[in-house]
Amino acid sequence: MADRKIRWGVISTANIGRAAVIPAIQASRNGEVVAVAGREAAKTEAFAAKLGIPRSYASYEALLQADDIDAVYIPLPNSLHREWTLKAAERGKHILCEKPLGLTAQECLEMEAAARRSQVKLMEAFMYRFHPRTQQVVEMVQAGRLGDLRLIHSAFTFRLTRPDNIRLQPELGGGSLMDVGCYCVNLSRTAAGAEPVEVQALARWAPSGVDEQMAGTLRFASGLLAQFDCALTLERREAYELSGTEASLAVPAAFLPGAGDTTILETRARGQVEQHVVAGVDEYRLMVEHFADCVLEDRPPRYAASEAAANMRVIEALYRSARENGTVVRI
Ligand SMILES: NC(=O)c1ccc[n+]([C@@H]2O[C@H](COP(=O)([O-])OP(=O)(O)OC[C@H]3O[C@@H](n4cnc5c(N)ncnc54)[C@H](OP(=O)(O)O)[C@@H]3O)[C@@H](O)[C@H]2O)c1
Repeated sequence: MADRKIRWGVISTANIGRAAVIPAIQASRNGEVVAVAGREAAKTEAFAAKLGIPRSYASYEALLQADDIDAVYIPLPNSLHREWTLKAAERGKHILCEKPLGLTAQECLEMEAAARRSQVKLMEAFMYRFHPRTQQVVEMVQAGRLGDLRLIHSAFTFRLTRPDNIRLQPELGGGSLMDVGCYCVNLSRTAAGAEPVEVQALARWAPSGVDEQMAGTLRFASGLLAQFDCALTLERREAYELSGTEASLAVPAAFLPGAGDTTILETRARGQVEQHVVAGVDEYRLMVEHFADCVLEDRPPRYAASEAAANMRVIEALYRSARENGTVVRI
């Protein structure tokens, strides 16, 4: 078992596969990429050749028919996650699906039920959770190092330059909250160790109809407030700050820290600052290795699809609030 590798198929020639997840699987100790599928044969063949993937298919369905594929990685536009997860589960493939797992909490639960029926593993590919720095932050909060956690600020923004990008298409599940705000919501819920009881949001809408910017607040039963902003229109910002009665933590390059060393800045009540350095690592590789271990050892992934459903419940409430121009929405 120790030297077994799971055989991955990749559904689409998506950028994120090319740039991060395929190289991570290829560098992993327990996985290999054996095939990729795309809608256009020539483009998919060229993609496979460039990335050193042995086989390519001219349809997603054809890849799912292959008997020598154990797991699929699905980096499709958000609106297609559910459909291809259900098809992959039906074919008995384990599934690592990009974030957000579904368009709604209901979709996530449906996907979870399909995976359970077919006895395959399913996990949402929120890679930042696998970075040891994220885990260290959560441990520091849980150990009471901040005193009582009262306020969270998080942001994830970047500027899209191509109008044909999937993130600007409402019918593909686009929008800044779906694309990057989902990290802020996930981080806030994770740090809080609880689900918010109400939310409020305001958005700036793109001509296509998606939210190109959003600013929102989550209120937790403990009184903790989590504020965030996300955008497809601003220069890159991705950071969060957790503030408690005794200390605060600032986490720069929070979600995509790259492979270099990363830091947590801890400021204590009298203003002294301590910098904690966390050794660099590829968070994508840690995620795919974890998932492959779960397949090989037949154990549940660290994050269940119901966790993704809980994130989507908050995202749905934020959209409701933003569409109603900031009314408070109870969850
Ligand atoms: N975890 C992360 O760090 C991270 C980062 C970026 C994106 N993502 C997620 O990964 C997913 C893909 O994002 P991306 O930026 O990589 O997207 P992308 O480059 O636009 O790729 C999406 C792929 O989906 C396929 N596709 C099928 N139907 C399509 C349609 N109607 N329109 C457009 N493409 C279609 C295309 O592949 P073929 O033509 O080959 O079939 C396309 O290459 C999204 O869910 C996103 O949220 C995650």
